[in-house]
Order: sequence, then C-alpha cells, then structure tokens
Amino acid sequence: MPVPIRSGTPKKPSEMMRLFMTTFIGIIFGFFLGISFPTLSLSKMNLPSSLFPSIDLTYIEDKYSGLSKQALFNAWASLKGNKEASPLLPRYNKTEIWVPTNPRGAERLPPGIVASESDFYLRRLWGLPSEDLTIEPRYLVTFTVGYDQKKNIDAAVKKFSENFTIVLFHYDGRTTEWDEFEWSKRTVHISARKQTKWWYAKRFLHPDIVAPYDYIFLWDEDLGVEHFDAEKYIKLVRKHGLEISQPGLDPDRGTTWAMTKRRDGIEVHKDTEERPGWCTDPHLPPCAAFVEIMATVFSRDAWRCVWHMIQNDLVHGWGLDFALRKCVEPAHEKIGVVDAQWIIHQGVPSLGSQGQAQKGKAPWEGVRERCRKEWTMFQDRMTNAEKVYYKAMEMDPPN
Ligand SMILES: *[C@@H]1O[C@H](CO)[C@@H](O)[C@H](O)[C@H]1NC(C)=O
Ligand SMILES: *[C@@H]1O[C@H](CO)[C@@H](O)[C@H](O)[C@H]1NC(C)=O
Repeated sequence: MPVPIRSGTPKKPSEMMRLFMTTFIGIIFGFFLGISFPTLSLSKMNLPSSLFPSIDLTYIEDKYSGLSKQALFNAWASLKGNKEASPLLPRYNKTEIWVPTNPRGAERLPPGIVASESDFYLRRLWGLPSEDLTIEPRYLVTFTVGYDQKKNIDAAVKKFSENFTIVLFHYDGRTTEWDEFEWSKRTVHISARKQTKWWYAKRFLHPDIVAPYDYIFLWDEDLGVEHFDAEKYIKLVRKHGLEISQPGLDPDRGTTWAMTKRRDGIEVHKDTEERPGWCTDPHLPPCAAFVEIMATVFSRDAWRCVWHMIQNDLVHGWGLDFALRKCVEPAHEKIGVVDAQWIIHQGVPSLGSQGQAQKGKAPWEGVRERCRKEWTMFQDRMTNAEKVYYKAMEMDPPN
C-alpha cells in the first residue's frame, strides 16, 4: 500500500507556534492592506491604454468587483462599529438587486426577466403569445433592394421556405409597392434612402438581434436563383462545416475571382488557383479563405465576429471579403463556395445610379471612387489596429 507522503517534517511546538503567528499576522496585514487601498485597481494599473481604447476599465472593475469589495467593506465596518457607507464604493443596499453578470446597464434587474437577445418574428396583437408563431424560422435572409428589381427579388424570395425570415432593406424609399406580392405581408421592411447593405447590416443585424438564426444570408438584389435551393444549400454548408460561404457564380458571366466561380460535379470547394502572382500563400485570399460580399452567408458565430469588424462609416464594405478570414479559424477550411447550389450574378449597377453627379462625372463614377477609397481606408485601419495590438502585447506579428 502506498503511504501518503507528508509535505513537511513535524515541527517542535514552539516552532509551530511561531509559524502559526507569522501566518496569522500575515493574513491580518494583508487584509488591512487590502481595505486601506480600496481604490487600487485595474484602472490604476499601467495597462497600455492604447490597447483597449474603447473599454471603460473603471466600469469593468466596478462591475466585477463591486460586490466583493462591498462584502469586505461591510466586514471592516462592523469591526470598527461603523455602519456608514464609504463614498468611494457604490451604495449597495441589501434589499436592492445588483447582478454584475447581467448585460451592461441591466444590473438592477433580476436575471430571470432579462431578454438580451431578440429576433424578427412577427407576432399577433391578440391571443396567447405562446401561440403567435406556427413556425420559428431558423434562418435569416436579407436583400438590399430597389423597387426596379422587384421581378428578381420576387423570384429570389420564392426560393426561401417558411424556415426563413425575410428582411428587405429598401434604399429607394419605396416599400408599400411591394405589397403586390403575397409574401410581402410576412416580410420585414426596413427603409432608409440611399444606404448600402453594410450600412443596414451594421444598424439592424446586431448579433443579439439575429441570435436565433443559425445562418444569415446577406444578399444583393441582382442575383439569379434558377439553380439555387436554399434548404439544400444549408444542408451542404452544415455538412462541410462552412462558417462563411457563398453559392458558386455562373462562370459564363465574367467573374472577377477564380475562387467564387462555380465548378461542375462537386458539392463545395475551399481553394483555387489564381493567376500567377496573385496569391502569396495558397491558404490566403484570393486563393482560399475567401468569398465575395455580394451573396455571403454567415453562421451565427461568424456573424457575431464579422458584425464587429464592419465600420460604421465605410458603407460599401470593400475589403471586408479579404478580412473575413480573421473571424474564423482555420479560415481555409471554414470559408468556401457551394458549387452544387449556384447563382448568376447579373451585375446590375443598381446602387451606382443612386449616387450624385459631381464635377462632370456620372453618379456611378463617384460611387466607384468612394468604394476604392474605402477599401484603402479599411486596410489601413486593420493594419494599424493589428500593429497597435502586437506592439502593446510585445508580440511579433505573424508574417
Ligand atoms: C435601503 O433600503 C431600505 C429599505 O427599503 C431603506 O429604508 C433605506 O433607506 C435604503 N438605504 C439606502 C442607502 O438606499
Ligand atoms: C423546414 O425545416 C424543417 C426542420 O429542419 C424541415 O423538416 C422542413 O422540411 C423544412 N421545410 C422545407 C420547406 O424545406
């Protein structure tokens, strides 16, 4: 039988006493040291502030240490016979609710009532709420549309079953006209003039709002869907573990990238050969880990990341396609193109016509120019953000 090994040899009684006293005094000293500096905290430590510019450290500290600090203070106050609350501490009242793990700002609510996520489910004004929905759609499809493309959108929407919630973002201010379509009554219409898909997505598709949906389709309006079946598409995406995907594009319509061209006879592909010199690494865009932004499909988790990467002022989303890979790991396995369900990119320059003629240039020229400019700005921001991070962490950036 193995004998339990003791961690130390037995000490003489006087030695034991000395050890005990030292430990005890140490604990007491530590305790008083702790409460003498109740404000010594995370926010006072020299964290590189440039690294967490948008995080309010004081807030985090309050949120997570408030209760324990209060408990400590109460102990200290009762020792001193002093029941007054310290002005330095938030005044918690034992009879009031304070739940630090609740979402920010909702700490006063009992967790059982907090609804931190939502959906686009349409409900009735009567009857029992629990009987409002005959089906809870698990997928979300959004189209950014102008009424001129109604035929195309009508055809596209009909490809999505009752398992899909449909949201239309209207950039031309025309919404009631769509009521000629039977499905329009079941559709959520959001109207804001002359805005882009990414502008709407940032404002109306917050990850907590779209949380019930397994997959989120962010589609343009000029896609031909004769060869596309949404349920089959989702089956393939699940089967191949694609977190970010798009249907293959008809290769007969001059596409820009080799990656997104549809291939015959296979279900899915995740990489490609590009023109010589276009890819520095076979695992990186545009040879892998890459889809375009015209017909992108995100998993719930991928969207939670991508939403945060969308910049509020860079509305065209140019450059996002090259950065999507930063949201999934390993990107060259989780980003891909579904060949078996494919679409035709009709290339209608719809939003372009929503621009403004300036200095003798056509409206679409100004829009195109801004697209390019945004691409550069986005790349610069990403590069800088990474540089700042690696510097603050004293890490070497990967190649
Ligand atoms: C704490 O709650 C009790 C009971 O509601 C109230 O009488 C007391 O004034 C409160 N104290 C503070 C500091 O808010
Ligand atoms: C909707 O989803 C359910 C559950 O996944 C499935 O059984 C059903 O076939 C789907 N409806 C259509 C029209 O595909």
